[in-house]
Amino acid sequence: MNKLTLRNLDVRGKRVLVRVDFNVPTEERDGSIAITDDTRIRESLPTINYLREQGAKTILMAHFGRPKGQPVEKYSLRPVADHLHTLINHPVAFSRHTTGPEAEQIIADMKEGDVTLLENVRFQPEEEANDPTFAQQLAKLGDVYVNDAFGAAHRAHASTAGITKFISPSAMGFLMEKELQYLQGELDQPAKPFVVIMGGSKVSDKIGVIKALMEKADAILIGGAMANTFWKAQGIPVGASRVEADKLDLANELLEHAKAKGVKFFLPLDALETEEFKAGARKRNTSRIEDGHGITEGWQAVDIGHATIALYEEQIAKAKTILWNGPVGVFEIPDFADGTIAIAEALAKSNATTIIGGGDSVTAVKQAGLADRMTFISTGGGASLELLEGKELPGVAALTEKS
Ligand code: 3PG
Repeated sequence: MNKLTLRNLDVRGKRVLVRVDFNVPTEERDGSIAITDDTRIRESLPTINYLREQGAKTILMAHFGRPKGQPVEKYSLRPVADHLHTLINHPVAFSRHTTGPEAEQIIADMKEGDVTLLENVRFQPEEEANDPTFAQQLAKLGDVYVNDAFGAAHRAHASTAGITKFISPSAMGFLMEKELQYLQGELDQPAKPFVVIMGGSKVSDKIGVIKALMEKADAILIGGAMANTFWKAQGIPVGASRVEADKLDLANELLEHAKAKGVKFFLPLDALETEEFKAGARKRNTSRIEDGHGITEGWQAVDIGHATIALYEEQIAKAKTILWNGPVGVFEIPDFADGTIAIAEALAKSNATTIIGGGDSVTAVKQAGLADRMTFISTGGGASLELLEGKELPGVAALTEKS
């Protein structure tokens, strides 16, 4: 990676503008907003604490939700400022305006080691438009720029990309560095066998990733509703299962591509099928899908079955590098979660480098209480997919090159 990192910067006494991803899940409790998972905030702490120890003045910029360019109370970052205060055990000043005189005054009053959080950058339509004037206004608030918002690095917005035209140097923070190290560095020449587990509902979301990973993977294990689309493409009955009916050709193309590349491409051998998509509904393990029976008419596949779990466990046990993206069943409903939990457990038991590529598989690993048994868990959803696809992330591309 040829970009400057935070350690390359001299930050003592400087105003360091840091773009973080504080887009955390919340819920309303007793009339106020409560953070239900603060992982992204905690993962930013190494950067924030380092800056504080170095005597920098840390000014944090973040987005929260999709307020469509106008102030929306429920998307205010104020509760995050309060939460951060408790995490770093130091007051966090909050500017109700992202730019302008109020923000400037708060920053002028900061002392070394202080932290300020600016209001949601997406309250301004100029943020997502990557407007240069707004980027310049943001840049004015700092002396140097750090991007630690991996989860938003696939967005070419004013605070993630445009800003670097007006402030220099710009470097990546520790979280950004770690994400790139695992999702790019480790997977560039992965220790073999390299096994990929791909789940989730849509093949269409993952085509680019599956294609890119076929260049490196020894085996790809498919699960989730996307398996139904592959089955249907192969002429196997899928009952009332969710299918992307317009992606059948594409599914067959991917299967052909895997064959040509010599990659082992596993579709589930069997499934858990249910009569109704709800907890407590009748369910049963199907016979082998490859025997042609498929899913019973009127029933739907909601998880991988016993034979598939055994097969996938075997593949996982042989691997030296494992990447997992997307649950293999409807794990939100505990009745349909066995397959996903079994995959999480197999990864936890393995001695391989285990990388969880963001999104719902992260939630699944956490729900299974196995997060600390994984080598690395990404904080990015869309950003990790784009990176795995081999795309350049605008938030990284915009940073200063190491000389
Ligand atoms: C995310 O939650 O994936 C990131 O914060 C990006 O958010 P966005 O999809 O609203 O740009």
